[in-house]
Amino acid sequence: MNAALPTFIPNSNFIRQEKPDISPYPKGWFLICFSDELEKRAILNRTFMGNELIVFRSQSGKVNVVNAYCTHMGVHYGFGASVIGESIECPFYGYCFNTNGHCIRASKEKKAAQQMPRKWHCTEWNGLVLVFHNPDQDHFPSWEIPALDSSEWTPLQHHSFTLKSHPLEIAENGLDVGHLLDIHNFSYIEEDKAPQVNGEMLQASFTLHGPKGILRVLGKKAEGKFTTTHFGLGLSMLSTHISNQGLQSRYFVLSTPIDQQNLALHIAVSTKKEQPKKSRKTPPSFLPKSLLHKLITQDSIKRMTTNVHLNFKIWDQKSQIGYKSRQAPSGIKQIFERWALQFE
Ligand code: FES
Repeated sequence: MNAALPTFIPNSNFIRQEKPDISPYPKGWFLICFSDELEKRAILNRTFMGNELIVFRSQSGKVNVVNAYCTHMGVHYGFGASVIGESIECPFYGYCFNTNGHCIRASKEKKAAQQMPRKWHCTEWNGLVLVFHNPDQDHFPSWEIPALDSSEWTPLQHHSFTLKSHPLEIAENGLDVGHLLDIHNFSYIEEDKAPQVNGEMLQASFTLHGPKGILRVLGKKAEGKFTTTHFGLGLSMLSTHISNQGLQSRYFVLSTPIDQQNLALHIAVSTKKEQPKKSRKTPPSFLPKSLLHKLITQDSIKRMTTNVHLNFKIWDQKSQIGYKSRQAPSGIKQIFERWALQFE
């Protein structure tokens, strides 16, 4: 974690009194870790929607996500297991499971019968490791996230928080232009066209001017357009083009329920590898391009996390009013609500 970025301590005494109409663990793709957190043979522990899981990268580079507890006697793999080739070895009796789900080492009589801990469907997508959650229990992904070319973009820089919230709240916030004026100090925002729904995706485009907003780049006022694309409730991508500075960025907002109250909220940023042409405070041009891109991405993650952080006290303390008890929405909110309910 970058020490210069904001931190947040959730109000541990606060219990939400009202629940949204959507399950605390909605259907869809959710971040479990970033690719750069997972070297070969590394094992990470994660609490994901009330389940203790481990994430590991095998020798071939494949990412695997499985329940953390060994099916033999319940040892937690996150404390002492080893990744050996394409398998994981328990530290207790040394039972070994390959990533196809077969037990390849155990006592003679146990080997055939021993079940691998439950395996979760996961994918690596542009530096993100995503797991599919399906409340219907068959756990097979019913949809995929479209491919995205990131060859011309900087590696992701990212920052994570824990707070009391729900993915619905975070996703809705990304389309709630009203609060951008009050909370984030934008001076002008206009919806370019009606939001488009395409199955599990929802996309909307806006024009904005922001003297102090999220899109302010290297100290300069921003004027430009942004398009926000939701891939389910757990992942959204804000693509920005700051026309007066020639800068394109992608901001990823990822929300993953830890348990029924707490949410891991991750922010990640990547910028297109081209120098802003007219920025007043652009770093000197003698800098190598790679360093310049890194500085711009660092500046972007700092601005984004600072701006997202402005919502935290509100999100962390507010009750989630179910859709059924809200005033009937209209316009973009109505489109969002109809789209969101498919993930319950
Ligand atoms: S608990 Fe894992 S091998 Fe026994």
